[in-house]
Amino acid sequence: MTDHKRPILVFGATGRQGGSVAKALMKAGWPVRALVRNSTGAASLELQAAGIELVEGSFDDMAAIRAAMTGAYGVFSVLPANLEADAEVDYGTSLATIAAEAGVEHFVYSSGASAGNQRTGVPRFDAKPRIEAHIRDLPLASTIIRPTIFMEMLVRPGLGLDEGRLVSLIRPEQSIQLTAVADIGKFVAAICSDKARFAGITMKVASDRLTGRELGAALTRVAGRPIIYERFSDEVLAANADLAHMARSLEDGPLSERVDLDLMREINPELLTFQSWLEGFGRKALAEAMGTPAHPSGDRNDQRGLR
Ligand SMILES: NC(=O)c1ccc[n+]([C@@H]2O[C@H](COP(=O)([O-])OP(=O)(O)OC[C@H]3O[C@@H](n4cnc5c(N)ncnc54)[C@H](OP(=O)(O)O)[C@@H]3O)[C@@H](O)[C@H]2O)c1
Repeated sequence: MTDHKRPILVFGATGRQGGSVAKALMKAGWPVRALVRNSTGAASLELQAAGIELVEGSFDDMAAIRAAMTGAYGVFSVLPANLEADAEVDYGTSLATIAAEAGVEHFVYSSGASAGNQRTGVPRFDAKPRIEAHIRDLPLASTIIRPTIFMEMLVRPGLGLDEGRLVSLIRPEQSIQLTAVADIGKFVAAICSDKARFAGITMKVASDRLTGRELGAALTRVAGRPIIYERFSDEVLAANADLAHMARSLEDGPLSERVDLDLMREINPELLTFQSWLEGFGRKALAEAMGTPAHPSGDRNDQRGLR
């Protein structure tokens, strides 16, 4: 049964996924507690103004994390992208161990859709599968989500949008599954409200699936000027091991495994499409990437799904 009296502790609430999750949990009626590094920073103060309880701490202070988990019903765990693999595994496993020790009733970990069930032997690609395995071994009710590539990643400067192109990882006729960060919060709110259904489950999540050509068509419609989709050149992929790894994964690895979008819509009836995301949350980022004036309603909260 859902216990809406005890809080859910959210990590990364000043960032993309955690911000989306904190907002969606609040909307669903949960008390939300956020572990933040700087409780007087602008992003933290916004969370506080929205009614979120702040606890100051960091991944380097496990005593603060232990205290923050005291009395929590649930935990949402996400780790920043720029960590060394060993640190990511250390932090990710420690958060789950402490949650089990603290008697947390439902632990939700956001991994990544490139995390396959087979290890690659490359530490940075294996960090999330190692964290996932540790979580599953604990005496802890847990749900692991594996978000596909964020829509936000396609609408950034440097990908050709200012020249009427979008250059990315897939071939024009190949499809890519994308997740709107705003949908992650809604998935997690649904998961937290139904532990009986979701505990013990690992699932890829996505908002939409489009070919490269369809990406170009959606961008063209929203931008009001032609945007042609192209794949990165073989030279660019050969020179960047991470991009090449993702391109292979999209071709026939974990990122190519089809997410059931009907199931996603059943879990989150407000699921965004790439086009509806571009028209709302993504509008400001698109304008910036195209070098055109920002839309007046776009702001940082839009990116984090806070509005
Ligand atoms: N990009 C994609 O397409 C994609 C897709 C699937 C999964 N992922 C995964 O998503 C994860 C990143 O999530 P995100 O994009 O939501 O991250 P994000 O927006 O960069 O936010 C990171 C959050 O972590 C906090 N943080 C950083 N260092 C910390 C520390 N030492 N102690 C406590 N908190 C700390 C940050 O707080 P401050 O505000 O204090 O900095 C911020 O709230 C990565 O694991 C990545 O692999 C990414």
